[in-house]
Amino acid sequence: MKGIVLAGGNGTRLHPATQVVSKQLLPVYDKPMVYYPLSVLMLAGIRDILLISTPDDLPLFRRLFGDGSHLGLRMEYATQSEPNGLAEAFLIGADFIGEDSVALVLGDNIFYGQGLSKLLQRSTVELEGCTLFGYAVRDPQRYGVGETDGAGRLVSLEEKPVSPRSNKAITGLYLYDNEVTDIARTLRPSARGELEITDINSEYLRQGRARLVELNRGYAWLDTGTHESLLEAGQFVQVLEHRQGVRIACLEEIALRMGYITPEACHRLGEELSKSGYGRYVMEIAETIAGRKPDAGAE
Ligand code: G1P
Repeated sequence: MKGIVLAGGNGTRLHPATQVVSKQLLPVYDKPMVYYPLSVLMLAGIRDILLISTPDDLPLFRRLFGDGSHLGLRMEYATQSEPNGLAEAFLIGADFIGEDSVALVLGDNIFYGQGLSKLLQRSTVELEGCTLFGYAVRDPQRYGVGETDGAGRLVSLEEKPVSPRSNKAITGLYLYDNEVTDIARTLRPSARGELEITDINSEYLRQGRARLVELNRGYAWLDTGTHESLLEAGQFVQVLEHRQGVRIACLEEIALRMGYITPEACHRLGEELSKSGYGRYVMEIAETIAGRKPDAGAE
């Protein structure tokens, strides 16, 4: 399975904070926002990753991740010149996807929870058609909203409904079989002039090939759409990291635990950042795993 991180958009709702820098590069506590969705793809076992962003911002992401090889990844980059909608990712990424299945994650979505890695890996193995992830929220009107038949099959889907039929928001993580590129080619822009991801999902729903996996209350799916929610997300990460002494979405640690890089390579990555607590944490994890010391961070 291939992975796409979509980190486009003008971030207009967060201006002036995002006037000259991509929203997905803003810090969420101790690391850039994009680390969180990228960590989700890594935890799902995906190593071929296309990052899509605006022409202005793409060079910054490239500086951050390079070719990804230091993390055991193969990273590629592509531009979305206009905010033409999330579904355009499959047109921009069609060659990259090739004959594969694909996971799309939105660059501003933060997921956290015990067992997420296993849930994602199982979902990629069991994928047939498309798999969406639902999360109960207080304000479903702000999101895509889905309903299931109780056996995980999606039975209805609406984008930002005024009267939602359920409280299950569709999160910004989507798994698709290879047909997604063909479906994307048939889309027409919506009333707001965008190629909507919900129209792709509706087509899978029409074909009876859409599943909705519920992320239960043991998971956190955090919003970063407003200054308040962005700050809250940072505080959430801070509280967990301080209390437990672990780091969330530490890409070097995930690469090490997934077996993509050696403890030595991981240690060197930490040394490059050794003036920061993040860097020192990376070195400690590398030492712990190299020495097989008891370790609190493992799942
Ligand atoms: C998009 C999708 C929506 C989904 C949300 C998740 O909305 O259209 O269905 O629930 O992402 O973050 P947008 O953020 O573009 O308004």
